[in-house]
Amino acid sequence: MNILLLGSGGREHALAWKIAQSPKVSNLYIAPGNPGTATVGENVNIKADDFEGIKQLVIAKGIDMVVVGPEDPLVKGIADFFANDAHLASIPVIGPSQSGARLEGSKDFAKEFLMRHNIPTARHKSVTKDNLDEGLAFLRTLKAPYVLKADGLCAGKGVLIVPTLEEAERELGEMLGGMFGNASATVVIEEFLQGIECSVFALTDGNTYKLLPEAKDYKRIGEGDTGLNTGGMGSVSPVPFATDEWMKKVEDRIVRPTVEGLKADGIDYKGFIFFGLMNVDGDPMVIEYNVRMGDPETESVMLRLKSDIVDLFEGVAHGDLAARDVVFDERSAVCVMLVSGGYPEHYDKGYEITGLETVDGSIVFHAGTAIKDSRLVTNGGRVIAVSSYGKDKEEALAKSFANAAKIEFDKRYFRRDIGFDL
Ligand code: AMP
Ligand code: GLY
Repeated sequence: MNILLLGSGGREHALAWKIAQSPKVSNLYIAPGNPGTATVGENVNIKADDFEGIKQLVIAKGIDMVVVGPEDPLVKGIADFFANDAHLASIPVIGPSQSGARLEGSKDFAKEFLMRHNIPTARHKSVTKDNLDEGLAFLRTLKAPYVLKADGLCAGKGVLIVPTLEEAERELGEMLGGMFGNASATVVIEEFLQGIECSVFALTDGNTYKLLPEAKDYKRIGEGDTGLNTGGMGSVSPVPFATDEWMKKVEDRIVRPTVEGLKADGIDYKGFIFFGLMNVDGDPMVIEYNVRMGDPETESVMLRLKSDIVDLFEGVAHGDLAARDVVFDERSAVCVMLVSGGYPEHYDKGYEITGLETVDGSIVFHAGTAIKDSRLVTNGGRVIAVSSYGKDKEEALAKSFANAAKIEFDKRYFRRDIGFDL
């Protein structure tokens, strides 16, 4: 079959790498892709949210299935666009309807959904300019630090964790005043959850689900989890505290109620669900939903998925996911992200990347790279993910750190302590 994958980051290179291994695939196209995805499929220069362009491509190339990497096209309704188009309606899209994508596109919607279905999450209050007084009163009932979340998509920047009540009150006013444009016209105020995070992934056909390997992501720029939040500096799978017993709690209290809740609410959802969880004294609680795979979690999770991912996607499309097997690789997998100096604030692009050919024993996924004058150059904050297997995370990390050090570009930086807390 012919598959079209949408997106252009490290997650998409890892997905493309896995999809390309399936004997079911004749041609894999990636739109727009990156220089890494071009090594496992054919890049097509169409943006992931250019629905008309994607339609023309799907028809021209005889595409049989579309896999959506990032959230943007989903929140903009690509699954509905296909379902409502006479030429495209029969082509499955792996990714939820616009209605389902609200789990990520609106934090207020996600919190209401969690409350409605009794899924454990932090106490919260959603506020707009019209009920600011109630918001301020709710803030005063909470203990420091204070969590403020813009309702809408903000490219990962919409969450503020503020140490004092005065700052929280001021930031709340600024968010409602347009700090993140329309995305913060509604703000979710949340109780701070103390614990350690874990990313859990499910694939669902709308009736049943299958869990994929879990992972832990390292979001802060600095070693020891210090400094600004980034898109993610590395990941580790499996996560030691995600024991069978803990994962049973996750399934019973969170995953199954979510899939059943979507169904009960009449929401069409066929695709990945990403549960951003906090382990609070042994009990999992939902911090956020995403409607796609995580980045950089995918760069380790795909290594640990032994099953044919296209077979699982067919299960999603045909509604018989329950009959398909998900087999995990027993080894550990990790990823270390090489980023541009200055990221997540200002950084420059266009530096030549060298040393890739010296990498030995790791898998390199491109995130923000480009080809310029026949040279591979940096083209983003997160540049390259170095993923490795090991008998345990220590062995896998040793390989990733050693290979990361061989890849060079101006102002290259990576964290040398991924996995330090596990
Ligand atoms: P989100 O964009 O919702 O993933 O939030 C970004 C990060 O903020 C999360 O990965 C957590 O590290 C942190 N965070 C969000 N909500 C909470 C909360 N209620 N308690 C503690 N940390 C939180
Ligand atoms: N790694 C977190 C995310 O993809 O949102």
